[in-house]
Amino acid sequence: MRALVMTAPGGAENSEIRETAAPHPGPGQVAIDVAWAGLNFVDVMARRGDGGYTSAWPYLPGKEVAGTVRELGEGVTGLAVGDRVAAAPVGAGLAEVVLADAVLTVPVPDGLALSAAAAAPLGLATAVLLLTDAGRLTAGDTVLVHSAGGGIGSAIAQLVPLLGGEGTLIGTVGRPEKAPAAVDLGYHHAFARDEQLADAVRTATSGRGVDLVLDPLGTTTLELDLTVTAPGGRIVLFGNAGGGEVGTMPTLGQLMGGNLSVTGFSHRAYAATAPERLARAIRTTLGLQAHRGLTLPLTELPGLEAVPAAHDAIEQGRATGKYVVRVGG
Ligand SMILES: NC(=O)c1ccc[n+]([C@@H]2O[C@H](COP(=O)([O-])OP(=O)(O)OC[C@H]3O[C@@H](n4cnc5c(N)ncnc54)[C@H](OP(=O)(O)O)[C@@H]3O)[C@@H](O)[C@H]2O)c1
Repeated sequence: MRALVMTAPGGAENSEIRETAAPHPGPGQVAIDVAWAGLNFVDVMARRGDGGYTSAWPYLPGKEVAGTVRELGEGVTGLAVGDRVAAAPVGAGLAEVVLADAVLTVPVPDGLALSAAAAAPLGLATAVLLLTDAGRLTAGDTVLVHSAGGGIGSAIAQLVPLLGGEGTLIGTVGRPEKAPAAVDLGYHHAFARDEQLADAVRTATSGRGVDLVLDPLGTTTLELDLTVTAPGGRIVLFGNAGGGEVGTMPTLGQLMGGNLSVTGFSHRAYAATAPERLARAIRTTLGLQAHRGLTLPLTELPGLEAVPAAHDAIEQGRATGKYVVRVGG
C-alpha cells in the first residue's frame, strides 16, 4: 500500500510516499481501507519538531480518516467488513490502509459523503467538544474564537447555532485579509490580532466582554483573553499554533476576582482517557453533517502527492478552511 511518510523534521522536502505492507488489526482494532483523510495542524507541528509530538523518525502523519472496514481484529463487535466508517487512528492515516481502535471507529450515516466524514473524527469532534464539554456553551453566550478561518474555526462558526448558541460570535485572524472570509463563515465580527483587538472586542460586546474564549495560540493571547472575558467567563486553551515557549498561567487573584475558569483541551488525551466520549462526539458531528446541514467548506486534494505542499501552506498560515485528501476507493 502507499503511505505518506515524514522522514525528518522540516517541510515538504522531507515528506515522501512509500510502498509498505498493509497492517493487520490486533485485538480491539479495525483495519480500514482509507477513502479520504483529513489534514490536521498537529501533523504540521510534529514535522516542525515541536516538543511533545514526536521524537521518532520517520513519522507517519494522519489522524482522521473515512473509508470502509477491511478487517476486524479479535473481539471487535458491532462492525462488519465493508461498513462505511470514520475513525480517529493514533497516526498513519495518510495511507491506503490504517489501523484504528474499534471504540474510535464510527459508522458513517447513509448519504453522507466519505470526503465530508473524513473531517469529523479529529477536527469536527474537537470543535464539538470545545463547545460542549470544555466550553460548556449556553444559549446566550458571546463566544470569541482565535484562528477563526482555519478548520476548527470554520467548524465552530457553524456548530454554535446548531448546538443552541444564540449569542454574538467573534473571530480573530492572523492576517487582516482573512477577516471577510471569517464573516462569510458565520462570525458576526472578525478582527485581525493587532493592538486594537481588545478595544474591538469590547465595542462588539457593548463593553460587556465575552463569556467563552476558544484559544489555540498557546499563551500568546492569554492576557488579552483575560482582559476581554466577562465575569464568570470560561477560557479554553487547546493548542500552541506558533510553537513557542509557553508563558505563565493567570494568578489566583485574576481567576477568583473574575470568577473565571481556564480549561485545557486535548483530543489526544480524550482518545487515551475517555474514548467513549470522543466517539460520542464523532457520532454527533456525523449526525449533524448527515441530518442538520453541517457542511464545512472543504478543499479536496486529489491524492497523497498534494499533501506536503498543503502542509506547507498550513504551516505558513496561507491555508483557509479544512483540507481533506482522496487516498483510495
Ligand atoms: N487540542 C486539540 O486536541 C486540538 C485539536 C485540533 C486542533 N487543535 C489546534 O487548533 C488550531 C487550529 O487547528 P485546525 O485544524 O483548524 O488547523 P488549520 O485549519 O490548519 O488552521 C490553523 C490556524 O492556525 C492559525 N495560526 C495561528 N498561528 C499560526 C502559526 N504560527 N502558524 C500557522 N498557523 C497559525 C492560522 O490562522 P490565523 O493565522 O488566521 O489565526 C490557521 O487558521 C491549531 O493550533 C491546532 O493545533 C487542537
